[in-house]
Amino acid sequence: MKWILWLCLAACAFSQEFRPEIRKIWDDKVMEALELPLASGLKPKHVPADYYYRIPERKVWKTYPIYPPGREPAGYFERLKTLEPELAFDVAKLKTKADWIRAGEQVFHSANAFTSTNFSFTQVRNPEWWTATEAKLGKDGTLPYYRYVIRQKGKVEVTFDSCASCHSRVMDDGQVIWGAAGSIAFGKHWAYQIRKEGKTSEPAAGLLKLFFGAPWIKPNPLDDFSAMTLEDVARHLASIPHGVGARQGTSLRAPAHPPDLIGIAGRKYLDNTGLQLHRSLEDIMRYAAINGFVDELTLYGDFRPISIIHSSQSDELPPPETELRSSDTNLYALALYIYSLQPPKNQNPNDAKAKLGKKVFASQGCPLCHPAPLYTNNKLTPARGFKVPAEHRTTYDVLDVPVGTDPELAMQTRRGTGYYRVPSLRGVWYRGPFEHSGSVATLEDWFDEKRLKADYVPTGYRGMTPTRAVPGHEYGLRLKPQDKAALIAFLKTL
Ligand code: HEC
Ligand code: HEC
Repeated sequence: MKWILWLCLAACAFSQEFRPEIRKIWDDKVMEALELPLASGLKPKHVPADYYYRIPERKVWKTYPIYPPGREPAGYFERLKTLEPELAFDVAKLKTKADWIRAGEQVFHSANAFTSTNFSFTQVRNPEWWTATEAKLGKDGTLPYYRYVIRQKGKVEVTFDSCASCHSRVMDDGQVIWGAAGSIAFGKHWAYQIRKEGKTSEPAAGLLKLFFGAPWIKPNPLDDFSAMTLEDVARHLASIPHGVGARQGTSLRAPAHPPDLIGIAGRKYLDNTGLQLHRSLEDIMRYAAINGFVDELTLYGDFRPISIIHSSQSDELPPPETELRSSDTNLYALALYIYSLQPPKNQNPNDAKAKLGKKVFASQGCPLCHPAPLYTNNKLTPARGFKVPAEHRTTYDVLDVPVGTDPELAMQTRRGTGYYRVPSLRGVWYRGPFEHSGSVATLEDWFDEKRLKADYVPTGYRGMTPTRAVPGHEYGLRLKPQDKAALIAFLKTL
């Protein structure tokens, strides 16, 4: 009998052997067709493959948790200083798919950039930083967004701009959901940094152009901000709530909320504006590659964001050795990890109220755009003012029914395609704020008619004025109170 058991174990082990198929993701033809043209018709040009592959690869170092001041185990930081640098994993030792996913998890937590702890973007040893950034802690008492990293013995640095920083969510009870719509108040971190550098009276024009410049749009969206100082920018950034980020390519006025990465496999378009196609695992790798700062090198008409940093001409690319990219292998592991993410267990009851809500959902026409099982039709809807070009009707999945939300992100930015994609409603119970810029904090607010009026104080991202309307998507706004409550109860079961 025993040998049968051994045979079975050997066979099982064999069947677990995993053969990764790692393809070169950066191919000029593929990159050209990867993204939608921008709203004005402009087609940005990513760097050519021969340049891309000459950029050195970023290493994935082993990382260590960060504790708030006063809560660190005795001698912890001193011990970190004695450690040798160590890579997070050895590709040669990855055997099963689970091994690869675990390696991808390390990539998810690894830095896009590094900052040292004595003066840095993340001054995590400074109590003042914790107050200013309103950083939340996980149940285990550590900071989810960043980790310590050692690249050189004796020098403890902080991972910066890891995927985990914007794509991890701390629930009220401290549970951390990796990959969920992130809850970091990224603007507060950035504002803290700007103020710490002490140049707040200087003009903000250069910084704004680097992150938000879109000079081909007429009138230039940055004209409104031309008088801003760095302190003005910091003040605005500090007002942006948890779960919304004025990331590169959005706008100070129209930031974006990071989408939930859990369940991404079913989505055909990425980003709130449906900027990038998603047809395969490689497209997730490409998304991560582009957004890991390689988009600063992209040519938008005759504007290349990186030229602001190097004070160079737009037609010049910096020497590739001065940049960093993620290796195809690490991006592959990362994408496998993202695909493997599972939603937390939903405790919301599918009771009589939720069942009534399901009927309300159907009767209000929601399934036209949010049909089961994904609760999205995976289509793009034109933003207010965007005229769908004829060729898009055959190339992309367009539902020419505008929902009328604020058009700025879709029309006036480098991520703006003229569309908002229909988001999946799966997992709305553990995400928010809602709407592309996270303008309302809760589902109750999203279905509250008051948000349509100019004197509304948005409960999520406020904007640059004390009050403003959060227009559009008027579905379900005028229901009887008990039907509205039932609809929301139903949505919370998804
Ligand atoms: C500074 C914050 C930040 C960091 C760091 C970050 N993201 Fe994001 N991510 C966002 C925001 C904001 C969006 C939405 C952008 C938009 O709608 O235009 C987004 C969108 C995405 C999407 C599209 C999801 C969807 O359903 O549309 C993917 C995939 C993604 N991020 C993966 C990653 C990965 C992988 C990393 C690490 C390499 C990463 N992100 C790092 C903020 C961040
Ligand atoms: C014509 C298509 C369409 C219909 C009909 C529609 N929606 Fe939407 N829905 C969208 C689009 C597009 C967005 C994203 C808008 C934006 O962010 O600017 C959205 C966003 C949402 C959001 C916010 C999701 C998030 O993560 O921010 C919820 C919740 C929602 N819809 C629920 C519903 C419900 C419930 C109904 C019916 C009462 C409904 N929708 C009807 C297209 C539609």
